[in-house]
Order: sequence, then C-alpha cells, then structure tokens
Amino acid sequence: MTRRARFLTLAPLAVLCLTLLGLASADGAWLGRVPAADHQRTNPYQGQADAIAAGRNIFEEHCARCHGENAEGKKKRPPLKSQRVQQEASAGDLHWLLYNGNMKKGMPPWAKLPDPQLWQLVSYLKSLHE
Ligand code: HEC
Repeated sequence: MTRRARFLTLAPLAVLCLTLLGLASADGAWLGRVPAADHQRTNPYQGQADAIAAGRNIFEEHCARCHGENAEGKKKRPPLKSQRVQQEASAGDLHWLLYNGNMKKGMPPWAKLPDPQLWQLVSYLKSLHE
C-alpha cells in the first residue's frame, strides 16, 4: 500500500473515532447514578415565572460560558434543550447533577449555591422546551 493510499484509508477512520469520542463525552451515564430518593424529589418552584427568571440570571452568571447563552451547547459541552434534559431527566435528577456535578466529564458541582438557587436553575432548564 502506498503512503497516500494508507492515508486515504486511515483518515476517515480517525475522523470516525474522534466523532465517537465526542459523542461519548456527554452520554447521560450520570442519570444511572442518581439515587432513587433524589430522582423522585420534586421542584418546589416548578413552572413559576419568577423562579424561571431568577434561574436564567444564575445560568448567565455561571453556566452560559460552557453551555452557551441560550443553552445551545458548545463543543463538548452538551445543549440543555435536549430530549435527555427535557424529558428523560426528572427535576430531582437535574438537582442531583447540579449539586454533585460530574467532574470526570467536565461538569463542575454547584453545591456552593444555596438550595433554592439550584431549584431555580432546574425551573429555568425545564422551561427551555416550551
Ligand atoms: C466548565 C464547564 C461547565 C460549566 C460551567 C457548567 N457545565 Fe454543565 N456540563 C458540562 C459538561 C462537560 C457536561 C457533560 C457531562 C456528562 O457528559 O456527564 C455538562 C452536563 C450538564 C447537564 C446534563 C446534560 C446532559 O445532556 O446529560 C446539565 C443539566 C448541566 N450540565 C447544567 C449546568 C448548569 C445549570 C450549569 C450552571 C450552574 C452548568 N451546567 C455549568 C460543563 C459545564
């Protein structure tokens, strides 16, 4: 095989591997680690307009730099209008992830924020599909 032919064979493979790695970087595996009691927690501010507005402010301050101004995602930081965040994850799941983070995949924990602010963030996130 000539050097050029080898390159032409291997280049698409390399692109495919990089793509798979990129997808695997936000695979939602964290959902499987949420304890049942946390999964079932409900958001005390569910759907409340003032909580959504407050959550948006907190999002702009702490989250937009990674997830984008409108939660559209950036590079390997996932969009938050996805089916996973909007449908598959319960409010309790999102609260658990915000509190604990997933540092191995680059999502920092936000336990330093007061609990009401975490629920306001959840209200904002869940408002994004409407
Ligand atoms: C330093 C960059 C960074 C910041 C800042 C950040 N995140 Fe993330 N976030 C990530 C990455 C990377 C992931 C993917 C983690 C994974 O694959 O499990 C993620 C995952 C998530 C998910 C789960 C998405 C999914 O599809 O599984 C939610 C929800 C989320 N972040 C919300 C937030 C909120 C709200 C804030 C602000 C309080 C925030 N993030 C701040 C990098 C960041």
